[in-house]
Amino acid sequence: MAIIGAHGKVAQQLMRLLYDDGDDFIGVVRNEDHADDIYRFGGEGVLLDIEQAEPDALARAIHGADAVVFAAGAGPNSGPARKATVDYGGSVKSQQAAVAAGVRRFIQVSARGTDDPVAPGSDESWTAYVAAKRDADAELRRSTLEWTIVRPGTLTLDDGTGFVEAAPRVEPGTIAREDVARVVIATLREPTSIHTQFEVVAGSTPIEEAIASVATTARLG
Ligand SMILES: NC(=O)c1ccc[n+]([C@@H]2O[C@H](COP(=O)([O-])OP(=O)(O)OC[C@H]3O[C@@H](n4cnc5c(N)ncnc54)[C@H](OP(=O)(O)O)[C@@H]3O)[C@@H](O)[C@H]2O)c1
Repeated sequence: MAIIGAHGKVAQQLMRLLYDDGDDFIGVVRNEDHADDIYRFGGEGVLLDIEQAEPDALARAIHGADAVVFAAGAGPNSGPARKATVDYGGSVKSQQAAVAAGVRRFIQVSARGTDDPVAPGSDESWTAYVAAKRDADAELRRSTLEWTIVRPGTLTLDDGTGFVEAAPRVEPGTIAREDVARVVIATLREPTSIHTQFEVVAGSTPIEEAIASVATTARLG
């Protein structure tokens, strides 16, 4: 697996779970110290800034992976420009790289409510963030990839519970990043989740069961 934005907080949970399961992964990061951390997590660190890199370079980096997980984000302290270059541009570049590298499976970590109109008076960074996620998801749905779009609610650093609510639309809520990582793994293992897009928050259904059943209601492709 190739994880884009591998030093992020969801990605670190994902790497921990993959290592425990004995799965191989590469982690794309933009900071040399972070690349060393990926080796400490048990994977292979690839130093590459997704805002600066040519798609070909990213394609070479992920070549041979069985799937791409886009878990990068410009982060809460960034302005509109980086929402466009990371959350939108970085995802689209990763999609293009996956196509070029022949990596068909692609999981996008998006966000709940991304297709809703932004409330009047919202600040410009939030507006740009929602637009970036919405437009990146739309590009992915139009792609030839075997995509799944995971749209979590507000992320926490709590321990995961292993239980979620997943559906095309769910009410606002929180979810532990550890559970988002488990959802990503369950999604990768559930072929019927290909061409589905769903929201996910903490809930009462075991994750594997939730992902198997959401595949019947959230199919878009
Ligand atoms: N916060 C929420 O409540 C919430 C809710 C729903 C969805 N989400 C989305 O869920 C995803 C994962 O969230 P998270 O909390 O794990 O994010 P995070 O901890 O902020 O991690 C994002 C990662 O993206 C990396 N990144 C940024 N620009 C990059 C670039 N140019 N090249 C390579 N990597 C780059 C960052 O690297 P550096 O460490 O070098 O900056 C960081 O490690 C994000 O897309 C986020 O928008 C968040």
